[in-house]
Amino acid sequence: MNADQQRILSLREELNRHNYDYYVLSNPTISDFEFDQKMRELQDLEALHPEMDDPNSPSRRVGSDLSIEFKQVKHQYPMLSLGNTYSQAEVADFFDRVNRGLGGAPFEIVCELKYDGTSISLVYEEGRLVRAVTRGDGEKGDDVTENVRTIRTIPLILSGDGYPSNFEIRGEILMPWASFEELNRKRAEQEEPLFANPRNAASGSLKQQNSKIVAERKLDSYLYYLLGEELPADTHYDNLQAAKSWGFKVSDAMRKCRTLQEVFDFINYWDVERKNLPVATDGIVLKVNSIAQQKELGYTSKTPRWAIAYKFQAERACTRLNSISYQVGRTGAITPVANLDPVQLSGTVVKRASLHNADFIESLDLHIGDMVYVEKGGEIIPKIVGVDMDARSNSGEKALFVDVCPECGAKLVRMEGEAAHYCPNDEACPPQIKGKMEHFVSRKAMNINIGEESIDYFYKKGLLKDSSDFYSLKETDLSGLERWGAQSAKNLVDSIADSKNVPFDRVLFALGIRYVGATTAKKLAGELRCIEEIETASFDRLVQVDEIGDRIALSIMDYFRNPKNVAFVNRLKEAGLQFAMKDEENRLSDSLGGKSFVISGTFDRHSRDELKELIERHGGKNVSSISSKTDYLLAGANMGPAKLEKAQKLNIKMISEADFEKMIAEV
Ligand code: IVH
Repeated sequence: MNADQQRILSLREELNRHNYDYYVLSNPTISDFEFDQKMRELQDLEALHPEMDDPNSPSRRVGSDLSIEFKQVKHQYPMLSLGNTYSQAEVADFFDRVNRGLGGAPFEIVCELKYDGTSISLVYEEGRLVRAVTRGDGEKGDDVTENVRTIRTIPLILSGDGYPSNFEIRGEILMPWASFEELNRKRAEQEEPLFANPRNAASGSLKQQNSKIVAERKLDSYLYYLLGEELPADTHYDNLQAAKSWGFKVSDAMRKCRTLQEVFDFINYWDVERKNLPVATDGIVLKVNSIAQQKELGYTSKTPRWAIAYKFQAERACTRLNSISYQVGRTGAITPVANLDPVQLSGTVVKRASLHNADFIESLDLHIGDMVYVEKGGEIIPKIVGVDMDARSNSGEKALFVDVCPECGAKLVRMEGEAAHYCPNDEACPPQIKGKMEHFVSRKAMNINIGEESIDYFYKKGLLKDSSDFYSLKETDLSGLERWGAQSAKNLVDSIADSKNVPFDRVLFALGIRYVGATTAKKLAGELRCIEEIETASFDRLVQVDEIGDRIALSIMDYFRNPKNVAFVNRLKEAGLQFAMKDEENRLSDSLGGKSFVISGTFDRHSRDELKELIERHGGKNVSSISSKTDYLLAGANMGPAKLEKAQKLNIKMISEADFEKMIAEV
């Protein structure tokens, strides 16, 4: 083995260790910068030594853009679920059953937290991750190995020794609350449907066909069950402690109990304390500790007799459904909302609950006047989880989803594959028009100083038909109106005039193109620079822009295909709004801070001209030939050998297209 190859192995080992210190122990021993430097060195060396390719290299944690097809894989041991209990009395019954099943022999129960994510089975051979499979139907699941490799707390190569040459470990993939909230915030901005809870977000993420997206989702894991023919210990507890020493994330919230009272103490403690955890939990799992005793107790057809789940009581109330109202958003999406008799629920008064969409209402078979159960789990908005059928009177009518818009009477449409109904009348449906104007004036958009009521009032007076009318409002139009004095009229007109200086990316956001949130607008404007380029951009050009996928690209093209939208944009142009980035605004960042680059070879995702432009717009410099002053050689495929040799001789840092993308990525 030559020096490079040896260096690759030692860097991999070192990076694996730092990864573990950082993500599993939350106790990093080097700076992020040093970590990145080492990672880059590894990536560079791996690029030069394809013969050293290893799917378990720590460099694979970043995922890839290649679309994954999930193969179905049969589980070696079926993935059973657990019996559920909801009361301490049922837990006592379980304790009794175990006692009788073991003929009165002493036993220990291990209590653990029940993590609320999506379950996973990991197979390791010779200390290396070879396969990760979802639960599926319990018999076979989807092979999601590529995605699971991006989860930082899952070891790709085990440390220590004493692990069996072949074993399986099961656990839960979780999305921590903080990542979940951040993800939903981004999705809201792009008008993408929100995930209802971290569990759905975690399982949805694992099924992504692009592992790079999974890598960005910040998933976590807890492992709780070791299986195999040669396990290190004869108790569940000791096996998990061994797994912990090999690098797995195993919870510390675990206790061996000998008495029922100890089990109850554990339950009562965590019922309160779990609210301070960074991840969602929905109960406690009780497992017989001795593997021999587990075998003795065996399985029913569906669940083990040696384990059970105790589910925490979700905070729930029962109240009357008085009516359903339908809200129309600025894009025409219809949201059904339940109006309830006010009821106290975990410290707040609940009067309304989201009913999501037509299918949800149908699945509950709701009738007006029903007594409904409302829960506040991990979800943001309280939800209706069921109906008390015994309390149903005959008088209440079955709740039917509206088929016309409650605001303008237009017939609603439902697009194929979408859960939501839409009002198509975007030109004349009042809440859509007002909603668009409210969006237009909002702080992140044009930042015009006017409130919802005033928009409503001007709309009713016929002064505002769409947002372009702001620019023809005159002080004299306003000062005669009710409650509008000369000063407030002047303030508004000044604020409208100021908005003409708002930079193009915010103007683009203000237009309210479906799915184009503030971040997307910034990326689009930063790269295409003026409205004409965006209006005429092809689908292929649009999807080249960072973070723009098929759906957003199609929505942009749809928008500009409508002559009414083009006319609206033209009116805004005439009013003098910014429809191009100014030169100083072309700067995207200063992340390359004066560093010089030589580009050589061909690249997968950018043309050389695009790369040059990106270098400049991030504050770097392009130079045409390598000298000792060059900071980086951006190396693509088929690079000339002379350049390569020169770069190596002068010790110039070589980076790949992916490294470069990372250097300019926003932090
Ligand atoms: S043990 C045969 N332990 O709960 C025993 N499961 O309803 C297999 N879960 O599918 C499971 N935390 O997804 C076990 N500490 C824990 C758990 C746990 C969460 C999930 C798991 C399982 C489901 C059972």
